[in-house]
Amino acid sequence: MNTYITTPIYYVNALPHLGHAYTTIVTDTYSRFRRLCGHDVRFQTGTDEHGEKIAQAAEAEGVSPKEYADRISRAFREAWPPLAVTPDNFIRTTDPEHIKTVQAILTRVHDQGDIYFSEYAGLYCRGCERFLTEKELVDGNCPDHQKPPTEIAEQNYFFRMSSYQDWLVDHIKTNPEFITPERYRNEVLSFLSEPLEDLCISRPTSRLTWGIPLPFDDNFVTYVWFDALINYLTGIGYPDGPDFERYWSVAEHVIAKDILKPHAIYWPTMLKAMGVEPYKRLHVHGYWNVDETKMSKSIGNVIRPGDLIEQFGADTVRYFVLREMSFGLDASFSGDAIIERQNSDLANDLGNLFSRSLAMIKKYGNGEIPEPSDNEQTEADQEIIEALAQMVDLYRSHMDDFLFNRALREVWKVIGLLNRYIVTNAPWELAKKDDKKERLMTVLYNLAEALRVITLVLRPVMPTAAARMAEALGLAAELERATLETAARWGLTRPGTMIGTGAQLFPRLDKKKLRSQSQEKGKQARQSTRKETAKTVETEGLITFDQFGKMELLVGRITAAEKIAKADKLLKLTVAVPEERTIVAGLAKHYSPGELVDRLVLIVANLKPAKLMGVESRGMVLAARETDADGNERLVLATVSDNVAPGSRVA
Ligand code: ME8
Repeated sequence: MNTYITTPIYYVNALPHLGHAYTTIVTDTYSRFRRLCGHDVRFQTGTDEHGEKIAQAAEAEGVSPKEYADRISRAFREAWPPLAVTPDNFIRTTDPEHIKTVQAILTRVHDQGDIYFSEYAGLYCRGCERFLTEKELVDGNCPDHQKPPTEIAEQNYFFRMSSYQDWLVDHIKTNPEFITPERYRNEVLSFLSEPLEDLCISRPTSRLTWGIPLPFDDNFVTYVWFDALINYLTGIGYPDGPDFERYWSVAEHVIAKDILKPHAIYWPTMLKAMGVEPYKRLHVHGYWNVDETKMSKSIGNVIRPGDLIEQFGADTVRYFVLREMSFGLDASFSGDAIIERQNSDLANDLGNLFSRSLAMIKKYGNGEIPEPSDNEQTEADQEIIEALAQMVDLYRSHMDDFLFNRALREVWKVIGLLNRYIVTNAPWELAKKDDKKERLMTVLYNLAEALRVITLVLRPVMPTAAARMAEALGLAAELERATLETAARWGLTRPGTMIGTGAQLFPRLDKKKLRSQSQEKGKQARQSTRKETAKTVETEGLITFDQFGKMELLVGRITAAEKIAKADKLLKLTVAVPEERTIVAGLAKHYSPGELVDRLVLIVANLKPAKLMGVESRGMVLAARETDADGNERLVLATVSDNVAPGSRVA
């Protein structure tokens, strides 16, 4: 049996964060699980490197797009091994093989008449880099950028996506597993209940050169999706490589909900047009927020995988994200939650079971896994044997369905049962009585055998900890080769196996100490970013007039202000520019709501909206930050020196 599983290829305009890490950990865990089931597995990840966003980011840094892409792509590649993530292939859309295949596909689809040239007049939003439909506008503005889109007429190439709509609806309806969880399948079907438009797949080189040239018209480059999605094929040698034959028919993609439409609609219709069968399953997960707030660079709450690994280690991070998120729904990350999971699930439940069992085997069995005695089997033994067998079954089906949290819950139920088994059987009491020796040895054997099974099922989730557990049990060589099928069979551990030396698996963490350490680190990181920024400004970091012109600075009048429940720093402001909008500002420690009403302020009006404590903020109020010698901060609102009409532009 074969498995082919992919992550999205990530844009190289930002460094890896918790969201990217989650998708990649899920995909790695699934690929390890499938290997444990005896599958021949191919796991692919990579980077998406063309397009306007990347060209702009490179320009802002004063380097060529390729140089820029090389640097960020390397950061992604290097982020994964420390998380024990081991892809079989890391693809880049700037790889020559990829480019060649994308062009061959474009030629073929164009030749068969599924790509046509047409003039398109529409409403283009520069911020979104795409045409908007009338329906999407709010009061004539782009909902994300609060600006009216520009009307432009442009000639472009289009993919005849609409001709495959009926086929796609039918395919989704007849293949319930094609898009899961079900909520996303329903979302796609509901979208497809309206007529589908054709897909614009090009950009004129007058506007964008950083892309793959269209083979039939070099005045155009492909626009990102017709380039990016094809990575799933080029990475396995499409059209004639042996890996394509071997893996495509079982392809499964993992994504978050943000890129559902391209994967559930553009991609299958593209494949159909190419005469390639659709992928097998699309697994869609929700979004990670941080302390209930959207992760964003401007709020400064972006979680970096490297920082988490440094504090908790890869195994805890992997266990935490898989246990905490219900696949498909959003989840919230918090430092306290990960510490709690480590202390209760890992150090307490699993760690104690493991260290107590091994210590007793060492003490009462001379460091050898003892021989169980048939005459000494009790009902309690039968109960754990059955519970383990049932757990392995449920684990297998939950892992297959991407229900990682449920699979882990089943494992922890058995861990709880085994901890109680130790207490009720009290080996230390049995050891005091000569006639209980056989019973003692049976209990110890059962514990060792149960730990073998637990080690195996934890291997896809916590590979490093599982390797240490196998080593401590003296079963490293056996377990490395073992499949899940052996977890379902009781009694495979050989009596007489010498156990190894097992160090503590997971230490208990001190919440207070960790919290103050991470605050200190945050402070240092902020200081060093400030230093770095200062350095770039001195040398090459000057911005162009054009870049400055992109920032929409306006005068606004605050018409209402109120505190936000449970947020001690935030105020919800209504600001007229002159139409009213809501802006959340971190001013609560410096101004009372009453003091703010009627003031003229300066705002950045075209900042992407962000949700803060459940309130959507559209823009930023500017203030000067003053820090005294003791490090106390004071925020003072920036304003204008005379009365001007709200909405006036600051330039
Ligand atoms: O969309 N929570 O790249 P991208 C969970 N290049 N997952 C998150 C997340 C969050 N807060 N933020 C990001 C692109 N992700 C395209 C894809 S594929 C042919 C082209 C993860 O860098 C999640 O997997 O914006 C999401 O789908 C992906 O990063 C988007 O990555």
